[in-house]
Amino acid sequence: MQRQLTILPAGLPFVHTIADKIIGFVRQTVAQHGGCSIALAGGNTPRAIYQRIEQQTSQDRDLWQAVDFFWGDERTVPPEHCDSNYRLAFDAWLGPAGVPANRLHRMRAEQPDLVTEAQRYEQEIARAIPRRLDGFPVLDLVLLGMGDDGHTASLFPGTTALCVTDHSVVENQVPQMKTWRLTMTFPLINRAGQIWFIVAGESKAERIREIVSPTAAGSVPYPCQFVEPVAGEMHWFLDQPAAALVGHL
Ligand code: 6PG
Repeated sequence: MQRQLTILPAGLPFVHTIADKIIGFVRQTVAQHGGCSIALAGGNTPRAIYQRIEQQTSQDRDLWQAVDFFWGDERTVPPEHCDSNYRLAFDAWLGPAGVPANRLHRMRAEQPDLVTEAQRYEQEIARAIPRRLDGFPVLDLVLLGMGDDGHTASLFPGTTALCVTDHSVVENQVPQMKTWRLTMTFPLINRAGQIWFIVAGESKAERIREIVSPTAAGSVPYPCQFVEPVAGEMHWFLDQPAAALVGHL
């Protein structure tokens, strides 16, 4: 698998470069296809990038009118909760950018019945995205983070969602965090046109080393190692601390 890796200085160079790449990709996709669909990453890393995107496009809010925003995963909290991935992106970017409500496809993970919400969200994605590959909607861009344990979205080590092959979105019990999540699955993520990992911080360095270097025989792959584009492209954006243990590539 051709792995595209970009290593950037930590801080503003990392944030500005990725923000500019996302803006450029959206402009190009909207110009070519009249619209764009993006699945946003949660966690802490993307916040500054989302803020930068909003700042950089404050004079061009029309750009977002043709973009459908999805979430790769969501915590089981209401949208106003400080842990909400929806709130993270809304406060940093989508709210100030005036993205129309009908373009914000929120995972309603606060619902008590996550199975039904997963089915509803799967249908919402299918309605919003006509393009299919092997029966799965084709997102234009999926942004992903990586946890210290090698998880991505809410696809955590040892959880049942890792094995899902016939759904785009599922509920996932995460015993190691004593919680449930909603998450996009590998079949959906892997059929995106572009898959961009955004990973920063020295706490990720050991995992990045293991992932980028050939996996030792017999070791259990980390969840993010199951992200493999079916027909699209994958790019890893790392800051230098996260890439500190990656030898010359
Ligand atoms: C979440 C994210 C998760 C995140 C990683 C990295 O809901 O937590 O979707 O997959 O991207 O845990 O998080 P940080 O960016 O905070 O390190």
